[in-house]
Amino acid sequence: MENEILRMEHITKVYPNGVMANKDVNLSVKEGEIHALMGENGAGKSTLMKILFGDEEATEGKVWYKGEELKVKNASDAIKKGIGMVHQHFMLVDSLRVYENVVLGMEPKKGIMTDSKEAIRLVQETADKYNLKVDPMAVVGDISVGQKQKVEILKVLLRGAKLLILDEPTAVLTPQETQELFEQLLMLKKNGHTIIFISHKIREVMQICDNLTVLRGGKTVGSMEVRNATEEGISHFMVGRDVVLRVNKKPAEFGDVLLNVKNLNYTNKEGRKLLDNVSFKIRKGQILGVAGVEGNGQNELAEAIFGFYPDATGSIMFEGNELLGKSIKMIRKNGLSYIPEDRIKTGAAGNLPIWANLIADTIDTNELKKNGLLDYKKIHERGKELIEDFAILCKNDEQLAGMLSGGNMQKVVVAREFSSDPKLLIANQPTRGIDVGANEFIWKKIVEQRDAGKGVMLVSADLNEIMELSDSILVMCDGHVAAYFEDASSVTEFELGNYMLGLKRQEDVE
Ligand SMILES: Nc1ncnc2c1ncn2[C@@H]1O[C@H](COP(=O)(O)OP(=O)(O)OP(=O)(O)O)[C@@H](O)[C@H]1O
Ligand SMILES: [Mg+2]
Repeated sequence: MENEILRMEHITKVYPNGVMANKDVNLSVKEGEIHALMGENGAGKSTLMKILFGDEEATEGKVWYKGEELKVKNASDAIKKGIGMVHQHFMLVDSLRVYENVVLGMEPKKGIMTDSKEAIRLVQETADKYNLKVDPMAVVGDISVGQKQKVEILKVLLRGAKLLILDEPTAVLTPQETQELFEQLLMLKKNGHTIIFISHKIREVMQICDNLTVLRGGKTVGSMEVRNATEEGISHFMVGRDVVLRVNKKPAEFGDVLLNVKNLNYTNKEGRKLLDNVSFKIRKGQILGVAGVEGNGQNELAEAIFGFYPDATGSIMFEGNELLGKSIKMIRKNGLSYIPEDRIKTGAAGNLPIWANLIADTIDTNELKKNGLLDYKKIHERGKELIEDFAILCKNDEQLAGMLSGGNMQKVVVAREFSSDPKLLIANQPTRGIDVGANEFIWKKIVEQRDAGKGVMLVSADLNEIMELSDSILVMCDGHVAAYFEDASSVTEFELGNYMLGLKRQEDVE
C-alpha cells in the first residue's frame, strides 16, 4: 500500500493459559493517518497493540514498520524505534509530580543528580508545542483523569514517538475533554505523527479517523475508509448484528421514597467543598440521572451515599434508616449496591479468580452457604450464570480477573452489583469502556431494575445515556444541585448543558 508505515501480518497470539486472543490478524496503517481499531470487548485490540509495542510476544506473524521487519522484545525497544503507547489503564506514579513522571527513566542529569530544572523545562516545552496544558509541578495523584492522560501522551512524545497507540483514550474523558484531545490528535497528525486509536464510540471514530479496522473474536473482520462508512455499517461490522442504542421503556410509576438526602455537605482534606448542601429524593421505580461536567461533585455524591466519606455532614435516609456514618458493609446490608467509576482500582481484584470477584460482596449472605461453609457448587453455578448473562468473555470462572480484557473486567463488576438484587443501585458511569452490545444489555438491566419497583441513581458523563435512561434528572455544578427535573422529557440536552456549565441555576431546587 502507498505510504504504508505499519503492516502487521498473520498475527496470532496464544496466551500461556491457552486463550487465543489474535488469530491470523492483519493490519495496515498509512503514514500520517489516524487509524481506528475497533471491536467488542475481548476482540483482541489491546493484545494486538501490546505485540506491536513489545509488551507481548506474538506466537506467529510478522510486523513491518517503515519497510523493515520490526522485532521488538520490550517496550523500550519499541520506543527506540519511535513507537509509543498510552495504555488503557494509566501507568503513572501517583505520588510523583507531573514532570517527574514524564521524564521517569530518562531524567536529564547534572553530574549524578537529576537536573530538575532542565526536566521541568523539557516538559513545559513539549507541553507548549502540542498544546497539552498541564502543570509540570502538580502531583499526579491530585490531577484529573483528563490531565493524567495528557501526562501519558507527553511521556510518549518526549521519548520521540512518531507512531502513537492510544488504547481507549476517551473512555475516561468527559465530552469536553474528548474534544480537546481530538484537537491535539489532529495537531499531532499535522505534525506528521501517525496515530492508532482504539475506541468503542462510533461517532468519535467518524469524527477524527481516516480509516478503521475491526476485529471480532480475535480475527480481522475488515478495514474501510471512514468517509465511506455509516454508523449502522460500523456497528454491524463490530458485532455482526444491528445494535440500536435506544431505550424502550414504559412510563415511570413512582412509588414510596427510598432515599432521602438532605443538606449533604462534604469538604475534602485540602479544604475544597465538594458537596454543597445537596438535597434530593429517589423513589421506588425511578431512575434518577445525575448529570454534570466531570469533577463537579457527582462522583463524590455517589461515593458519599455509599459510605466513602464518614466525615460528610447532613442526612442520608434510606427507608427510614440513617446511612451517614455507617460502614460500606452495613450500607450494602441495607440493600444498596454500587458500580464504582474506577472499576479497575476499586472494583475488581485482578489476582483473584472471576468467581471470587463475582461473589465478593455477597459472601456473607446465607444464600451461598451450606452449614455455615461456602457452597462452592452454588458459587460456580452463580458464576456461570452471570458470565452467560453478561457475556463475559473468559475461559471459565477460575480464570484470574486480571487476565480479562478491560471491558470484560468491568462487566464482572457490573454483573456482581446487579446480582445482589439491590433495592437501590448506584451506577457510576456503568457503560464506560463497554462495547455496544454489552451497553445495550446494561441499559436493559437498569430499566428492568426500575420496572421491578427498585430505585436507580445513574451518574454519567454521557449526556445521551442520561437522556435515554433517566425518568428524572439532577444536574450538579460546583458541588451543588444546579437543577432538578422531575420529568426528564421536559428538558433538552442543550438546556442541561447550560446548567452543567453554570450558565443557569434553578433558584428553588426541591
Ligand atoms: N495476560 C493475559 N492472559 C491471558 N489472557 C488474556 C490476557 N490478556 C488478555 N487476555 C484475553 O485475550 C482476549 C483479548 O483481550 P484484549 O485485552 O486484547 O481485548 P480488547 O479487544 O482490548 O477488549 P476491551 O475492549 O475489553 O479492552 C480476551 O479473551 C482476554 O481475556
Ligand atoms: Mg482493551
